[in-house]
Amino acid sequence: MKLTVSQLLSSDKKDIDIQVNGWVRTFRANRFIALNDGSTINNIQCVIDFENTNPDTLKRITTGAAVLISGTLVASQGKGQSLEIQASNIEILGDSDPETYPIQPKKHSFEFLRENAHLRTRTNTFSAVMRLRSSLSFAVHKYFTENGFYNMHTPIITGSDAEGAGEMFRVSTLDQKNPPLTEAGDIDHTQNFFGKDTNLTVSGQLEAETYAMSLGKVYTFGPTFRAENSNTSRHLSEFWMIEPEVAFMDLAGNMDLAESFMKSVISYVLEHNKDDIQFLENRLIQEDKSKPQAERSEMTLTEKLNFVVDNNFKRVSYTEAIDILRNCKPNKKKKFKYLINEWGADLQSEHERFLVEKHFKCPVILFDYPANIKAFYMRLNEDGKTVRAMDILFPGIGEIVGGSQREERLDVLKEKMAALNIPEEELWWYLDLRKYGTAVHSGFGLGFERLVMFATGMSNIRDVIPYPRTPQNAEF
Ligand code: 4AD
Ligand code: MG
Repeated sequence: MKLTVSQLLSSDKKDIDIQVNGWVRTFRANRFIALNDGSTINNIQCVIDFENTNPDTLKRITTGAAVLISGTLVASQGKGQSLEIQASNIEILGDSDPETYPIQPKKHSFEFLRENAHLRTRTNTFSAVMRLRSSLSFAVHKYFTENGFYNMHTPIITGSDAEGAGEMFRVSTLDQKNPPLTEAGDIDHTQNFFGKDTNLTVSGQLEAETYAMSLGKVYTFGPTFRAENSNTSRHLSEFWMIEPEVAFMDLAGNMDLAESFMKSVISYVLEHNKDDIQFLENRLIQEDKSKPQAERSEMTLTEKLNFVVDNNFKRVSYTEAIDILRNCKPNKKKKFKYLINEWGADLQSEHERFLVEKHFKCPVILFDYPANIKAFYMRLNEDGKTVRAMDILFPGIGEIVGGSQREERLDVLKEKMAALNIPEEELWWYLDLRKYGTAVHSGFGLGFERLVMFATGMSNIRDVIPYPRTPQNAEF
């Protein structure tokens, strides 16, 4: 019977004949193979009968080799594991060159592993991170399905700029050296593949709104692309975003939904990914030991995750937040790179992190931002200067969710678009929603990688997506 390492380690049967596939992590004393197949963070120990094993085979058991082991699952004689395999036969499926195999049984830097991203999931850290990523993805679909949402696939190629920030990757089949030109000398996109200028989507929200206004509750979970030149540990040029959109729901409902959703997916992995979380927690504890006392974390990873699940997110208006920031120590002592002087200032990640990590010490939902620092589609408040926006800020991450109640009034939306030079022709269908049965509706976007960062305690977003795309980097 062929079993996975995970099945073997949790088997309640002993002394059964089994087969197992996997990759050799280590081979010591010509006897003990630590075998891993990706099904769990834990390796299974396979004990080789080296006297009866061909010396040539023994030589080929090196770190990285793919093997098929046949033998008996037995209670372990040694320490550190309760079960092991007494191997009767080992077949080397594919050799590994021990001289050049990049993943040696030693500590590698994350930078080195990024350069070897095709092999990095053969390490404990990256296999744990990617199993958690997969589990979180499942938890997202589970939450929405169980709460009456429909999953919707929004287009990846679009003709609109959903965020109005102009940070888009163009999609074109025109001859780049010699593109057709209009009489005015501009590129003639009527001759382009779609007959118009198109780009990769920065958000599925606008299309999700159309479905919310018929199916009621929908969500998208898809790739999003942003050509912003931010080389930070929290930005990717290609990332995955989860965007629920709900008809007849206002901003307060949106906050409730986001909070319940975040708590649910984090609870899910706390319950289902214990081994991986424990491993990552220990990794962080080790990493902390090399840091000065002041920079060490006050909570373990599990404590941090439980804290989010067990505590209410603090809801604070932008105006209150500005008051706090204006009068806080780092602002008065000019420790912030961007000082907060007046109402209307855009918040930088240093401010967001001060609010979450130093001031409130819990997740924070900031709402009612100044209209002119937020996107065109947000519902204008009665004060005429703020919009029904909300950002959720998480410790160690900063902004993890951005959302809003949408402007449902045709005249107000048209005015806003005109002021920002957004052509009505481009979004005629979006405006139609405000003509035919318009209603209050809201939604938000969660950056999936930022969620994975939080759940795994990884500090660089490049380490929570299989093949990161960032400025100057699209390897693999
Ligand atoms: O705040 P953003 O730009 O909001 C939207 O795109 C809205 N259309 C969402 C909506 O209301 N349906 O992005 C939402 C989230 C951010 O809070 C952040 O977590 C993540 O997406 N995000 C990024 N993650 C990684 N790399 C980037 N470059 C990101 N830009 C945004
Ligand atoms: Mg945002």
